[in-house]
Amino acid sequence: MLDVAYDFNLASAPDELKGTFNQRRAEHNDLDRSGVWRFRELLPFVDDLSRVVTLAEGNTPIYEAPRSAEYAGLDKLRFKHQGMNPTGSFKDNGMTTGVTQASLLGATAVACASTGNTSASMAAYAARAGMRAFVFIPAGEVAYGKLSQSLEYGAMVVEIEGNFDDAMRLVRELADETDLYLLNSINPFRLEGQKTIVVEMLEQCSWRTPDWIVLPAGNLGNMSACGKALHEMVELRLIERVPRLAVIQAEGAAPFYDLWAASSETELHAVEHPVTLATAIRIGNPVSWKKARRALEWTNGVVERASEQEIADAKAIIGRDGIGCEPASATTLAGIKRLTASGVIDASEDVVAILTGNLLKDPTYTIDYHTGKLGLNEDGARREIDGTFANRPIRLAADKEQIKRGLGI
Ligand code: F0G
Repeated sequence: MLDVAYDFNLASAPDELKGTFNQRRAEHNDLDRSGVWRFRELLPFVDDLSRVVTLAEGNTPIYEAPRSAEYAGLDKLRFKHQGMNPTGSFKDNGMTTGVTQASLLGATAVACASTGNTSASMAAYAARAGMRAFVFIPAGEVAYGKLSQSLEYGAMVVEIEGNFDDAMRLVRELADETDLYLLNSINPFRLEGQKTIVVEMLEQCSWRTPDWIVLPAGNLGNMSACGKALHEMVELRLIERVPRLAVIQAEGAAPFYDLWAASSETELHAVEHPVTLATAIRIGNPVSWKKARRALEWTNGVVERASEQEIADAKAIIGRDGIGCEPASATTLAGIKRLTASGVIDASEDVVAILTGNLLKDPTYTIDYHTGKLGLNEDGARREIDGTFANRPIRLAADKEQIKRGLGI
């Protein structure tokens, strides 16, 4: 595992730097319009900024979510919605830096293994940069919203007969043996861009550190980036105090939770057959677990897990706040609910959760939940998920009087 390390030699004092970040939002050039590159002093690995490949990513909203807060037992909860990115997930924050680095190195072809979002994002940025894109996905396991994006952006889509971990192993070997430039989050330049998710969040919090930042965990790249960002922000005196990180895994794909819970363990044990309907985080052997463990140490963090039923219900509640997200993102709310119930998070604490993907990424899951068809096939048996907060469509004849009677209006 490699890290990008800087000898930060900043010309500006912390307050000046914050002013510069903010002023750039009013500019109209591509670099300043990007919610990644307007923080460029924190990722100074590009000498020639005209080479940056950007789709005006980042600058995502932060929302108050009162219904979700109440559901989770908090006085107040905010969501930073990374699903409001150009390709609908937080991956864009990292792909602009990753593809820029690929371009600086003269790469003409990039590759990734993916549960869907990384591939959609990489395909878009590779198209912008005029590079060939090869994506390796587990056959039949990628939500349609995401698969359709990779196809539309012109990537070569390879459906591997295996799971994400198989695809990851293969693409790493292929990248070693060929000219393919690997753009999974094992690539440290991806994580540099993803750092800005937290920097921007802190800016939106007027640089007042929340007590907790909560995020879903799969391959563990994002929490690694999050930890690095917080560590560097303290070093640069942009913040004084580090918030605690809470990362949430789906119960059927929770090797990092297992590692954390067994305090005597020092090595991660992969889950051989990970299962979850939150396909984005259906990962048994996360590549970045060592960096993630370091992030836990830096932030006095915790790991929690959530069941399929809890994730599904939490997702519907986030929808009722008018926000919405894809299933992996909803692990945050499900996890917070557990952590308040067990007293780890106090109701009065200031919590910001990161929603990582857009609601429209996985329409099948949402429709199935609301029509009572959601279930998990595991070991030949089917586990049904209750539509606790289901909102079923109703079908009526095309007749005004019948509609009035049917709706009671
Ligand atoms: N949320 C969403 C929506 C994701 O797509 C992913 C990862 C995660 C959370 C977990 O982030 O891997 O950094 O811990 N998706 C990857 C992909 C694996 O291929 O799109 P992580």
